[in-house]
Amino acid sequence: MNEEQKQEYYKKYKKEKQKGVKFYPDIVYKDIIVSFGLFLLLIGLATFVGVDSAPKADPSDTTYIPRPEWYFLFLFQMLKYFPGQLEWVGTAIIPAIAVLALILLPFFDRNPKRFWRKRKLAISIMTVIVIGIVALTVVAVVTTPAQEESGTLAGTISEKIVAGEELYGLYCVECHGADGEGGEIIGVEGLEGVEVKSISSQDEMYTRSDETFFNIIGFGQGSLGMPPFSKAYAGELGPGEIEAIVAFMRYTWDDRIEIPAEAAQASAIPELAPDEVPSYEVHIVPIVKRYCISCHRPGKKNGEYFITTYDEVMQSGDYAPNVIPGDLTSNLIRMIHREEIEAGGPMPPTKALKPELIDIFERWVLGGAPNTVDDAAAASTGSAEPPSEETLPTGTPTPSP
Ligand code: HEC
Ligand code: HEC
Repeated sequence: MNEEQKQEYYKKYKKEKQKGVKFYPDIVYKDIIVSFGLFLLLIGLATFVGVDSAPKADPSDTTYIPRPEWYFLFLFQMLKYFPGQLEWVGTAIIPAIAVLALILLPFFDRNPKRFWRKRKLAISIMTVIVIGIVALTVVAVVTTPAQEESGTLAGTISEKIVAGEELYGLYCVECHGADGEGGEIIGVEGLEGVEVKSISSQDEMYTRSDETFFNIIGFGQGSLGMPPFSKAYAGELGPGEIEAIVAFMRYTWDDRIEIPAEAAQASAIPELAPDEVPSYEVHIVPIVKRYCISCHRPGKKNGEYFITTYDEVMQSGDYAPNVIPGDLTSNLIRMIHREEIEAGGPMPPTKALKPELIDIFERWVLGGAPNTVDDAAAASTGSAEPPSEETLPTGTPTPSP
C-alpha cells in the first residue's frame, strides 16, 4: 500500500464511521434477528422433518463400516495416503501447515484490491484447495463399500419370527421352558431349583415393551441369574438375532396381536396321515429344536446326550443308545412319558410334552426311527406292523436304517 492508497482508505473509513452504524446496538440487533430466524428453522426441521433413527451403536457389530460425516471425508481420505507409522503426517503435519498458511496468507498477500480478477495469488491458492477438497471427498465416497444391512435380519416379519423361534429354542428354553412358562429350573448347571416367573403371561406381555425385552435379553439380569446374550456383553447374539427373538415372543405370546399365517404355518409340524411313519428330518427336528436342543447340545448338562444331528440322537449319551428303533421302552420314550429311570428324570425336566408330540415320537420309534422322508415312506408302506400298536414290543425287532 502506498501513501496515496492509505489516505484514500482512511477517508473512506472516516466517512463510514460518521454514518453512525454502531456495533451495539445496531449490529448486535441484526445478529439477534438472524439467530432467531435460525432457531425457528431448527425447531421447524426438528418438528416436521426429524432425524433418521439409525440403529443403536453396537460395538460387537463387525460388519459396520465407520465413516465420518461427509464434510470431514476429505480429511479421512487423506489419511489413507499415510498408512501406519506415517499417520501423523496426515493427521497433524499437513493440517497444521494448511492452517498456518491461512493465518499467514494476509501477511504474504498484501494486495489491497478487492476485485477478484486482480487477486490472482489468493484466488489460485483457494481454487487449488477447493479442487483438492472436492476431489478427495469424491474419491472417499466412491471407494466406500456399501454399508451392509447390519443389525437387522433381512426378510419379512414372518421370517423374523421363524428365525426367532429357532433361536429361542436354542438359547432360552433351558431356563424359561418351551412356552416361556417358567417355574422351577431343573437340569441347568448353577441355577438348579431357581424359580423363574412366566415370560409368556399376559402380565409380562402387557407390561414389557419390545425395547425392554431387547435390553433384558442383551444385558441379562445378572443378579437374578439371567445371562447377557448380546455379543457386546460377551454373549452369543447380534442385535438382529435378539430382535428376532423379541418378534417371536411378541407374536406368539401377546394375545393382542395375531401371528402372521405364514409364520404360524412355517413353524407348524407337518400333519401326519393315520398310518404314516414320521421321519427325523421332517417331524422330529422341529420338536427337538423347540423342546430339547437348548439343553442337549455340547457344553450343557445333559448326560452327554446331544440331539443336534440324527447320528447323535441315535448314538450319543451316557446311557446310549437312547433310541432303539421299534422299541417303545427306549430311554427317550420312557423319559418323555415322565418316567424316572437310570438315565435320568422326566424329559423335558419341567413340563410334559403335549400328547400329540409324544405320539409323533412313538410312531417314529415304532416305524424304525427313519432319518429321511424317503426312509419314512418306505417304512410306511413296507412295514407289516401297524404303527399304532398298543402293546410295547421288547428287544430290537427292526434294525436301524
Ligand atoms: C441360564 C438360565 C437362563 C437363560 C438361558 C435365559 N434366561 Fe431369561 N431369565 C433367567 C432368570 C433366572 C431370570 C430372572 C427373572 C425371574 O426370576 O423370573 C430371567 C429373566 C428374563 C426376563 C425378564 C423377566 C421380567 O420381566 O423381569 C426375560 C424377558 C427373559 N429372561 C428372556 C430370556 C430370553 C429371551 C432368553 C433366551 C435368549 C433367556 N431369557 C435365557 C434365566 C435365564
Ligand atoms: C432343561 C434342560 C433339558 C431339556 C429341555 C431336556 N433335557 Fe434331556 N436331559 C437333561 C439332563 C440334565 C440330562 C441328564 C440326566 C438328568 O440329569 O436327568 C438329560 C438326559 C436325557 C436323556 C438321557 C441321556 C443319557 O444317555 O444319559 C435323554 C434320552 C433325554 N434327556 C431326552 C430329552 C428329550 C427328548 C428332550 C426334549 C423333548 C429333553 N431331553 C429335554 C436336560 C434336559
